[in-house]
Amino acid sequence: MRFSLIPAVSVLLPLQCSARWLGIPTVPFEVSNATGTFSLKSVKSIVVDSKYQNTVNTDGETLIPPTLKSFATTFGEDLASVLDLKVPVVTGEAAGKNTIFLTIGNSSAYLDAAGRPTSEGYSIDVTSHGIVITGASPLGTWWATRTILQQGVLDSGMKLTLGSASDAPGWGIRGTFSQLDVGRHYYPPEFLIEMCSYLSFFKQNTFHIHLSDSPSVNPDLTMEEKLNFYSAFRPYSFDPAVEGLNHRPNESYYQEDFENLQQKCAARGVTIIPEIEAPGHAIVITQWKPELALSTDFTLLNISEPETIPTMETIWSTFLPWFHSKTVHLGADEYTAGVADYNDYVNTMYEYIGQKFDKSVRIWGTFVPNDIANETNINTNVSIQHWEYFEANPYWDFIKNGYSVLNSDDQFYVVAKWSGSYPQKLNITRIFHGAPDGGPTAPYIFDKFNATNNPPKDSPYVLGQLPALWNDFGPNSTSVIEAYWALREGLPGLGDKQWGGDLLMDEYYEILETLIAAIPGQNLDRKIPSKTSTILSYDFSSSQGNTVKDKSGNGYNGKLIGDCSVKNSALTLKPGCSVSTPLTSKGRNYTLSFSINPTTSTPSTLFSGSASTLRAGNGTIPNIMFITGGSPYILNYTLPLHTWTDVKIVSIANATYFVTSSGNGTETVNEFTTTIGDYSNSFIWGNPMSIEAPIASIGGDLFEGSIRGVELVDGADEKYAGSLTSAL
Ligand SMILES: *[C@@H]1O[C@H](CO)[C@@H](O)[C@H](O)[C@H]1NC(C)=O
Ligand SMILES: *[C@@H]1O[C@H](CO)[C@@H](O)[C@H](O)[C@H]1NC(C)=O
Ligand SMILES: *[C@@H]1O[C@H](CO)[C@@H](O)[C@H](O)[C@H]1NC(C)=O
Ligand SMILES: *[C@@H]1O[C@H](CO)[C@@H](O)[C@H](O)[C@H]1NC(C)=O
Ligand SMILES: *[C@@H]1O[C@H](CO)[C@@H](O)[C@H](O)[C@H]1NC(C)=O
Ligand SMILES: *[C@@H]1O[C@H](CO)[C@@H](O)[C@H](O)[C@H]1NC(C)=O
Ligand SMILES: *[C@@H]1O[C@H](CO)[C@@H](O)[C@H](O)[C@H]1NC(C)=O
Ligand SMILES: *[C@@H]1O[C@H](CO)[C@@H](O)[C@H](O)[C@H]1NC(C)=O
Ligand SMILES: *[C@@H]1O[C@H](CO)[C@@H](O)[C@H](O)[C@H]1NC(C)=O
Ligand SMILES: *[C@@H]1O[C@H](CO)[C@@H](O)[C@H](O)[C@H]1NC(C)=O
Ligand SMILES: *[C@@H]1O[C@H](CO)[C@@H](O)[C@H](O)[C@H]1NC(C)=O
Ligand SMILES: *[C@@H]1O[C@H](CO)[C@@H](O)[C@H](O)[C@H]1NC(C)=O
Repeated sequence: MRFSLIPAVSVLLPLQCSARWLGIPTVPFEVSNATGTFSLKSVKSIVVDSKYQNTVNTDGETLIPPTLKSFATTFGEDLASVLDLKVPVVTGEAAGKNTIFLTIGNSSAYLDAAGRPTSEGYSIDVTSHGIVITGASPLGTWWATRTILQQGVLDSGMKLTLGSASDAPGWGIRGTFSQLDVGRHYYPPEFLIEMCSYLSFFKQNTFHIHLSDSPSVNPDLTMEEKLNFYSAFRPYSFDPAVEGLNHRPNESYYQEDFENLQQKCAARGVTIIPEIEAPGHAIVITQWKPELALSTDFTLLNISEPETIPTMETIWSTFLPWFHSKTVHLGADEYTAGVADYNDYVNTMYEYIGQKFDKSVRIWGTFVPNDIANETNINTNVSIQHWEYFEANPYWDFIKNGYSVLNSDDQFYVVAKWSGSYPQKLNITRIFHGAPDGGPTAPYIFDKFNATNNPPKDSPYVLGQLPALWNDFGPNSTSVIEAYWALREGLPGLGDKQWGGDLLMDEYYEILETLIAAIPGQNLDRKIPSKTSTILSYDFSSSQGNTVKDKSGNGYNGKLIGDCSVKNSALTLKPGCSVSTPLTSKGRNYTLSFSINPTTSTPSTLFSGSASTLRAGNGTIPNIMFITGGSPYILNYTLPLHTWTDVKIVSIANATYFVTSSGNGTETVNEFTTTIGDYSNSFIWGNPMSIEAPIASIGGDLFEGSIRGVELVDGADEKYAGSLTSAL
C-alpha cells in the first residue's frame, strides 16, 4: 500500500477521500473523483515551465540556490538512476500529455507550523494525463520530486493514485545528520557529499559541520602535552594570516573542496552550515597562539587579551568568503570563564560578521540571559542552538526573551562507538514516541518529559531540529563509514518529524529499507552490483595477457600491473607488481577470502581500496593491520612465511574479523578492535570496528610471495558474529 486512507468523514463524501502518501516524510493527499492511477512508466518528458526556468529561491539558507531548470536536470538524472526511466528534460509553456510539468505557483499558499508562508511548500496534481508539480519556489518543487521518486520506488508498477497533494514543512531547519563532528575526526569531502544526498531524499535541508575542535583535554597534562594534543582546524587556507593554524594538510578541506561540497549539496537542496568553535573548545587556536589562552584553562580563549578578538576576526574574515550560507556558527559552547567576556565576544563577532559579511550568526545555548535589559546580554538576532537544560532552558530563558532557538536537545545526541552518557545510534522509539504525552517528537519538543518546558507548536521562535553526532573519543575510535551507520536507521524517521509528517513506527520499518536502497547520489551502504552473492572471483587459472579473469559472472576483470607472473593458479607478487580491479570497496556484510604464501616479512600492502588498506606489517612491526581513516588497527597476528594460509576477512554488522585456517580445517579468529577513552572515562578496550573491504588493488608495494583464490562475497557466515579473538 502506498497511501493509507483516513476514514474520517468519508461517509459524506463517498467519492473523495482525504488520504496520505506513505513516504518519509508522509505527504497529505486527496484522492481525486476520477479513480485510477498514472504510471511513471508513461512519462515521456520532464517539462520545465519556461517562465520560471531561471528562477531561484532566495528565502532559503543557501546563497547558491539552484534554478528550477537545474533542479529539473538533477531530477531527470535521478529518474534514470533510481527508476531506470530515461526521459528528456525540456522547457515549455504548459504540461503536455504524459509529462511531469515543473512550475512555480502561489508562494504564499504554503504555511509552516507558525502559520507563515514557506518557500519550501509544493503541490502535486496527478491526473490520467500526467503530473503537475507547483512549488512555492524551485526548492519546493525539488522536494516534490523527492515525493515522486519515493512513490515510484514504493509501488512495483510505479503507479501513482490520481489526486492531489499539498504539502509544506512545519519548520525551516531540518537535517538529521547534522553537526557531523569533523573537528575530531576527518571525513573526506566525498563522504559529506554523499551524506547530503542521503539527507535530501528525506527533504532535509541542513548539514551543520563542526570544523574545529579536539577531544576533551585533561587539565593535568603538561604544557608540552597540551601543545601536542590531537586537535584539528579543517579548512586550509594558503593565506599567510592563518599560517600554522591548520596543521593537518592531508586531512583538510581546501577552498576548492569546500566549494565543491557546498555546490553539490546545494544542487540537492542542502545547505552546509559551517561552525568554527571559540572561545571554548579552542585548543587548536591556543596551540597556534598560546598567548591567547586563559592561564587557568588552555582550551579557552582569554577574551580580555587584546589580540584575541582581532585574531578571531582574522580567522573568520579568511574563511567567510568561502561560505555560501546566510548563517554561520560561532560555536561558543561550554565556555566556563566570565559571562560578560563571553557575551562581549559573541556580540562583537555578531556585529563584525553581520556588518562586514552580511551574515547571521548562531551559537550553542551556554549562558542564561538573566536580564534582557542588560546591554551586555547577547543580541537577540543571534540564534541559539539548544542542547542541554543544565546550560539554559530553551523556552523560559531564550524563546521567552525573544531569541530564536534551534532544537539540538541531547535526547537525540549520538556519540560514536562508546559513551558514558549517550547512545551510539539514534533512538527510534524516541522519534515516534518521545513527546511528553507519548506521541511523536517534533522540533518544538525540547523536553521529552515536561511539557511546561516546551513552547507551543506554532511558536515562530522554533527554527527546527538537528540531532548531533559527536566523536568524543577522537579520530581513532571509528572508521568514516561508522558515522553513517550510527544514524542510518534513525535519521529518515527524524526527518519525518522535522517536516511535520505523521508516519507511524510500524509504517517506517515497512518502507525504510526499500527507500534507503533507492537513494540517488550516494552509495553509503557501499554495495556492489552482482548477479549472485559472489561479487568477484579471481582464481588465476587462466591468464590472457594482463587480464585477470573474474569468474563470478560479473565481469569485474582485473589487470596485472608491472612485472607479475601467474603460474599454477597463483599470482606471484613482488615489488612493482599489483592487480588493479574495477572496484573500490565493499561495505558490511562481506567475506573477502584468499590464500597467501609470503616469502619475506618486509612490511607491505596486501589489499587496498578507497576506504581502507590491509597490510602485513608497517614500520618495524610485521603484524596484520587494517588502516582506515589514517589510523592503524593492529592484530596480534603475523602471517607465517613459506607456507600457504587461508584467510577470510569477515565483516558482520559492526565488527570485522580476520579468520585464518591451516591445513586441518581449524580456524582462528582475530577481531579488529579499537581502544578508546579519555581522562574522565578510563580506557575501554575491545570496541568493534566496521571496516570496508579494500578491493581496488592487490599488492602494489613491497609484498613478496604468492596469492591465490581471491574471492569477495556479499554477506558473511553468522557463526563468526561476536567471536572476538578465539579458535572455532
Ligand atoms: C468530487 O465529487 C464531489 C461530489 O460529486 C464534488 O462535490 C467535488 O467537487 C468533486 N471534486 C473534484 C475535485 O472534482
Ligand atoms: C495565494 O494563496 C493565498 C493563501 O492561500 C491566497 O489567499 C491568495 O489568494 C492566493 N493568491 C493567488 C494569486 O492565488
Ligand atoms: C601528507 O601526505 C604526503 C603524501 O602522502 C606525505 O608525504 C606527507 O608527509 C603528509 N603530511 C603530513 C603532515 O602528514
Ligand atoms: C549586566 O551589566 C553589568 C554592568 O552593566 C555587568 O556587570 C553584568 O555582568 C551584566 N550581566 C550579564 C549577565 O551580562
Ligand atoms: C555493535 O554490535 C553489538 C551487537 O549488536 C552491540 O551490542 C554493540 O552495541 C554495537 N556497538 C556499537 C558501537 O554500535
Ligand atoms: C529510547 O527512547 C525511549 C523513549 O524516550 C526510552 O524509553 C528508551 O529508554 C530509550 N532507549 C535507549 C536504549 O536509550
Ligand atoms: C516542569 O517545568 C517547569 C518549568 O521549567 C518547572 O517549574 C516544573 O517544576 C517542572 N516539573 C517537573 C515535574 O519537573
Ligand atoms: C607506518 O609506518 C611508518 C614508518 O614507521 C609510519 O611513518 C606511519 O605512520 C605508519 N603508518 C601507520 C598508518 O601506522
Ligand atoms: C599475542 O599472541 C601470543 C600467542 O599467539 C600471546 O602469547 C601474546 O600474549 C599475545 N600478545 C598480546 C599483546 O596480546
Ligand atoms: C549483517 O549481518 C547481521 C547479522 O546476521 C544482520 O543483522 C545484518 O542485517 C546484516 N547487515 C547487512 C547490511 O546485510
Ligand atoms: C590443527 O592445526 C592447528 C595449527 O597447526 C593446531 O593448533 C590444532 O591443534 C590442529 N587441530 C587438529 C584437530 O588437528
Ligand atoms: C586510540 O587512541 C587511544 C588514546 O590515544 C589509545 O590508547 C589507543 O590505543 C588507540 N587505539 C588504536 C586502535 O590505535
